[in-house]
Amino acid sequence: MANLRAGILGTGHSYPEGILTNADLATMVETSDDWITTRTGIKQRRKAAPGEYTSMFAVRAARQAIERARVDASDIDLLLCATVTPDQILPSTGCIIQAELGTNNAAAMDVVAACSGFLYGLALANSMILTGQARYALVIGAEILTQYVDYTDRKTCVLFGDGAGAAVLGPVEGNRGILGAKIKSDGRYEEQLFSPGGGTRRPPSAATLAAGDHFFKMRGNELFKVAVRSMAEISREVLQQAGHRAEDIDLFIPHQANQRITEAVADRLNVDSSKVYSNIAVHGNTSSASIPIALDECVESGKLKEGDLVMMTSFGGGVTWGGVLVRW
Ligand code: ACO
Repeated sequence: MANLRAGILGTGHSYPEGILTNADLATMVETSDDWITTRTGIKQRRKAAPGEYTSMFAVRAARQAIERARVDASDIDLLLCATVTPDQILPSTGCIIQAELGTNNAAAMDVVAACSGFLYGLALANSMILTGQARYALVIGAEILTQYVDYTDRKTCVLFGDGAGAAVLGPVEGNRGILGAKIKSDGRYEEQLFSPGGGTRRPPSAATLAAGDHFFKMRGNELFKVAVRSMAEISREVLQQAGHRAEDIDLFIPHQANQRITEAVADRLNVDSSKVYSNIAVHGNTSSASIPIALDECVESGKLKEGDLVMMTSFGGGVTWGGVLVRW
């Protein structure tokens, strides 16, 4: 097919009803609404209740995306679930979601790239569609991060929230669709953001549990600068490859890690603040779910219009980063 591109045909999102406010956190650790708001932009985050797990929200988001894409679940031949908080180790959360959705003709798997997981998924699905190995792909970002947060560590516990977002991709013609995608990683920075316990290197035991080795540990201060530099650089590279400039962007959706990071990246790229989407005040950092939740909010609110040029960029543990440019 001439001019074949993969485009986003439908989106959806879902999150728990439970809300954890800055005031709630101030009763748990030595922090304040003022510190959290000024340093991060976060006012509240969603928190799953006991008994709620990752695939529950993934399935809800995915159902919405499939319905809006007007495709049949059985037509989806690739299902990628980006998550660092899977339902369980085996099988993949992707396979658990597949069974719930009845996407029985899909190859389902998880993508582990932390906050960049959704963009990794988009980039992979794009390649599979362009090479004819898939026609319709479902890409999900879903996390219950609050299960892996140490609520005695004020450096991390104020940041993370729960939720899921999804997108259905399929072939589109003309000017629409994914114009450029790039993903990168650098494993040498492993210990800037990691969860050391619970795998084969440090198997789960009473001792690892007591030491809190399964919780996320982060050197936020060091990550901050790398995150800003990497997201700005990869956005520039993707724009350039597609023959665009930052001035052409109609909507900029960066991973929601910190309002100051978002502003610094937009500043470096010279993207006007009116074009930058932010929902960090109400969701906090939902890792791989942050971009698809934001994307669907923009669709639902009418902020995202046909023909708009959308630049998405992310940075996360690994470290990993990515950029995807879409003509909506
Ligand atoms: N309340 C009050 N004080 C706090 C809190 C808190 N919640 N957290 C830290 N502080 C204190 C620190 O102890 C420190 O005090 P000290 O100077 O007496 O030692 C002081 O505040 C400053 O700490 P910094 O870490 O330098 O604060 P910073 O301005 O860098 O903000 C933050 C920290 C919000 C974590 C920021 O560095 C950040 O957002 N980093 C990037 C995170 C990121 O991008 N992660 C990757 C993506 S996430 C993923 O992949 C899942």
